[in-house]
Amino acid sequence: MNLFDVYPLYPIEPIKANLFKLWDKDGKEYLDFYGGHAVISIGHTHPYYVKKITEQLQNIGFYSNSVLNHLQNDVAEKLGRLSGYKDYSLFLCNSGAEANENAFKVASFSNGRSKIIAFNKAFHGRTSGAVAVTDNPSIIAPYNASHRVQFLPWNDIEAVKKELTNGDICAVIIEGIQGIGGINVPDIQFLKELSILAKENGAYLILDEIQSGYGRSGKFFAHQFAGIKPDLITVAKGMGNGFPVAGVLISPSFTPKYGMLGTTFGGNHLACAASQAVLDVIEDEKLIENAAITGKYLIQQAQGLRGLKEIRGAGLMIGLEFDFPIADIRKQLLFNQSIFTGYSGSSTFRLLPPLCIGKNEVDHLISSLNKVLENK
Ligand SMILES: Cc1ncc(COP(=O)(O)O)c(C=O)c1O
Repeated sequence: MNLFDVYPLYPIEPIKANLFKLWDKDGKEYLDFYGGHAVISIGHTHPYYVKKITEQLQNIGFYSNSVLNHLQNDVAEKLGRLSGYKDYSLFLCNSGAEANENAFKVASFSNGRSKIIAFNKAFHGRTSGAVAVTDNPSIIAPYNASHRVQFLPWNDIEAVKKELTNGDICAVIIEGIQGIGGINVPDIQFLKELSILAKENGAYLILDEIQSGYGRSGKFFAHQFAGIKPDLITVAKGMGNGFPVAGVLISPSFTPKYGMLGTTFGGNHLACAASQAVLDVIEDEKLIENAAITGKYLIQQAQGLRGLKEIRGAGLMIGLEFDFPIADIRKQLLFNQSIFTGYSGSSTFRLLPPLCIGKNEVDHLISSLNKVLENK
């Protein structure tokens, strides 16, 4: 059987990794400034993470959600404490798209509405409702296109106000910082007004922190720069540091009902062990502070790079936009300088390294960038 061929692949196969480094099968070393799509939070194969998952597997790896599993409560307790959302509840699932689907269900069950506001350049996943609120027609199949969705311009509060006052909006979904769309940070004032307007019009505010959450922005959640409290917050990626786990943080205003949500694999013992290890390391190694400090340093050091047009982002979620297409530079960084980076559109680097990188790695990235830009 062949694999269903949906991914363009680089001819590189990492077979070993440690914190922010990867090695391919020939022993060539790479520096990871991409974190495998912002997934690696505490660092590849962090020894504490490996230990916790291994020990858990030696006891029990899985049983269904019809029996007690205190590990789920432990994750919820620690996540509530570290994120500042102690009074919210947690629903555990397996992927970012699934987290968003569940957030829509909670919102829709609660206010009986179905139409969602999303924003231009948004990415929220590839399943039915999640892809319908993703602003990329090329990945929306006719099957997904029947959802009621209104896309609005980024940071345009008047457009939001006009749409909300129709009185039929179930929820507004917005990324803490737009990731795939190009590292776009929402204005603080826009988020504040969005939060108030949604409430006034009986709509729920869903913050998709799947890419921008778990300390990546230099705060636990990126929306916390605006001091707002959304009704629902979705998390995935950094939550498991590579183990597939996701969740919805649900405000106390929602009332759960048996059967309202459910999953076979969500919140299994191994996923909880991974999630707990991630939270422990984030706290013990002060990785949120490190993301803030190292991110600031990266932004300072990147100033003056040849052809740089704009720097966007916060913490270790940084977009470097150049005034020329970067595909070739990115390839040179990977194949000649051995550094993984991400991209958005034709001219923006998307930097999403593990949260444990330091100034030495930033210096190495900047000197490598200078080298490849010299030949441009
Ligand atoms: C902001 C955001 N939301 C949702 C998703 C979907 O997550 P998953 O691929 O785990 O379904 C992603 C994935 O890139 C994302 O960046």
